[in-house]
Amino acid sequence: REHVAKLVASRIVDVPDFPQPGVVFKDISPLLADPAGFRAVVDAIVTEQRATGFEVVAGIEARGFVLAAAVAYAAEVGVVAVRKAGKLPRATFAASYSLEYGEATLEVHRDAFLPGQRVLVVDDVLATGGTARATLDLVEQAGGAVSGLTVLLELGFLAGRAKVDGYPVHALLTV
Ligand code: PRP
Ligand code: HPA
Repeated sequence: REHVAKLVASRIVDVPDFPQPGVVFKDISPLLADPAGFRAVVDAIVTEQRATGFEVVAGIEARGFVLAAAVAYAAEVGVVAVRKAGKLPRATFAASYSLEYGEATLEVHRDAFLPGQRVLVVDDVLATGGTARATLDLVEQAGGAVSGLTVLLELGFLAGRAKVDGYPVHALLTV
């Protein structure tokens, strides 16, 4: 566990002033590109979450998809895409939220989950928590039951956890 946190920390690159001045962007792409790093984080998430009995994984566009698909495959469950507005072809639920750097709307197909199905929500980064909060709301609107929210990296100074209060939240690394 500590080993995974150290691995994550060692493969993240700080990018000043991206995507706008004043934001220090934590780039996790070197971690995902590293074979041992990618496998270790996916395995750690599956191990950590197995006891919650999740039945499907919901991934958040775009970087959440990479992790969510691998976690779902490893856990032998399916994966559902929570997408930016206008991308899904059939009837959706929508939720808007504000980001550290902008505004956005997420959508999920209305029939994405079976009633009461246990859903593990996966994303790369928990920052202000707006994205995660909107996703948890969407899962519930669509009739799913959130079994947990898991991220690679939590930016603790942005206090995103406060927005997802009451849900089981797990981060492989918090900075
Ligand atoms: C990033 C990140 C999370 C979200 C976290 O995605 O991947 O989904 O922001 O921010 P928050 O906690 O402040 O809501 P972004 O919206 O930049 O989309 P992308 O993955 O398509 O680049
Ligand atoms: N890194 C990656 N994703 C993010 C960040 C960040 O620093 N802030 C909000 N989403």
